[in-house]
Amino acid sequence: MGKFAQLSGKQKFLAGVVCSLVIVTVLDPLLRFFRLTGLLGALEADGIISPWLNAMVVINTLISVSILLKFLLPNWEPHRKWLGGLLVASFAGIPLTFMSIFPTLRDVFAENRPLSTGSIWFLVIIAFVSLVGLLISPQFHLLRGIIRKKDTEFTAGLISAIMFVIMLIIFVRQIFLAFLSSLSGIELTAVAPTEPLISMFHSLGYAIVLIYWPVLSRPILQNKKEKTFMQITFERNTAPKQKPQDQSKLGFGNYFTDHMFMLNYDEGQGWHSPRIVPYGPISLDPAAMCLHYGQEVFEGMKAYYGADGKIRLFRPAENMARLNLSNERLCIPQLDEGFALHAIEELVKVEKDWIPTEDGTSLYIRPYIFAIDPFLGVRPATQYIFAIILSPVGAYYPEGLNPVKIYVEQECVRAVRGGTGYAKAGGNYAGTLKAQKAANAMGYAQALWLDGIERKYIEEVGAMNVFFVLEDEIVTPALQGSILSGITRKSCIELLRTKGYTVTERPIAIDEIIQASKAGKLKEAFGSGTAVVVSPIGALRCGEDELIINNGATGAITQALYDELTGIQWGKIADGYNWTKVIA
Ligand SMILES: Cc1ncc(COP(=O)(O)O)c(C=O)c1O
Repeated sequence: MGKFAQLSGKQKFLAGVVCSLVIVTVLDPLLRFFRLTGLLGALEADGIISPWLNAMVVINTLISVSILLKFLLPNWEPHRKWLGGLLVASFAGIPLTFMSIFPTLRDVFAENRPLSTGSIWFLVIIAFVSLVGLLISPQFHLLRGIIRKKDTEFTAGLISAIMFVIMLIIFVRQIFLAFLSSLSGIELTAVAPTEPLISMFHSLGYAIVLIYWPVLSRPILQNKKEKTFMQITFERNTAPKQKPQDQSKLGFGNYFTDHMFMLNYDEGQGWHSPRIVPYGPISLDPAAMCLHYGQEVFEGMKAYYGADGKIRLFRPAENMARLNLSNERLCIPQLDEGFALHAIEELVKVEKDWIPTEDGTSLYIRPYIFAIDPFLGVRPATQYIFAIILSPVGAYYPEGLNPVKIYVEQECVRAVRGGTGYAKAGGNYAGTLKAQKAANAMGYAQALWLDGIERKYIEEVGAMNVFFVLEDEIVTPALQGSILSGITRKSCIELLRTKGYTVTERPIAIDEIIQASKAGKLKEAFGSGTAVVVSPIGALRCGEDELIINNGATGAITQALYDELTGIQWGKIADGYNWTKVIA
């Protein structure tokens, strides 16, 4: 599965098609053998064996396999492409399935011959499986795409629909001829004239499958969408800064590029005046509300300069969705997520020479929104600024991928359910500084937070979500409203599940981790976040207990996750998950 997961979506899709053709080739002789040896006796006796039966059974086997796999695979997303190929190939045969049954059934009914219960069940199951296959197939999804005129799905859906209509016409024609035959007693559905036609359409079906993916992957309506965005004005910085020379000494958050993006909000007018301007101080009224009541939210993401010279963002739409989630919690007006992402892309393109190229470096992107009404009094503001600044960065911790030491904070708490813990609001971080400062003073990199009510359950660390590798399970705290839903966390869970690990999102008591460590069951621990990617935890201090994890070394699972995630982000390995967005 490891190598397979690294194939591109297109390769997976074709693999699915090839796989279905191989199954057809293998199953066909097998079915002939069963027929000859009389193992399909009940069907044979009822006359439900036709030249098309083999194809029909094979096609339905493919559909059943695809359906089963869809439900059995713990994480469906990475397999979507190749199962899509399998399903599309299967779908091409559904109308044929019905055509294959129909003539034999007609014979059965014409002769007034009762079917055995076995045969009836056989037909009912096939009809059911075909229907379910049709409903969950990409075509169904794509047909909806036509109706909604949704982006890339439109052309592919249209082609599928045309194909479906062609198949339907053949099917209806077959029924009509059969109906006329039974009325007139003249054989109008002779196999000879129709069979080549059917074969032709069957081949057409497979051909369409083969051209399907390139069409699907072309974003045909995207440009139209972009035209509706507000025009971003650009004022070039005439005094650009000297870029940091030594990329190995970038650190995190020390340098800023030459330009920034700004967008204003005024009640009644909405978001307006998007502009890219020279990076510099922002003038604020001393009464600006963000300075007094902390109505501010932000995001953190990165642009990566790839091994192939392309610039990529990693799951940027997720950051935009989370920004709006934070906005909702902090009573800040919603942003157009598509436009916000467009603004990020435009700014990164302007500053593309600032993206560091050395291993482990990237351009950190900080979108943020703050209230600017000159007003004293607690209420939601009516004026805001949405800004984006960029910072070339190296490793977040001086330790790099070396394990960090974490201090379990038992006095202060970061958030409670019902609070703002799940939002990325600046205020959340101000409250963590005291514990972080104390942890730093004791030689620990970060504080690990426990739940605000019982001080018992693990929440998260500084700017990271946490994972613990126990003997037969990888655990991470469930998202219950007080911790940030990390995009790296989500990606780690998906990657680990694809590799076959059991990942459980649940409440984890700190005592459970201490006991697991004492029993030798705590194999690895790591944090996940945009800034660090994954960061191994080598030691965990909780009261008097100092847990040394994996002898203070980076564990194999942590290392593999780091390699795969950074491989995808820097374009070193194929992105089989469609997580990256190439912007230049
Ligand atoms: C409090 C907190 N938890 C978790 C994370 C990790 O989130 P993500 O993986 O989206 O960067 C961050 C990241 O900035 C954070 O600030």
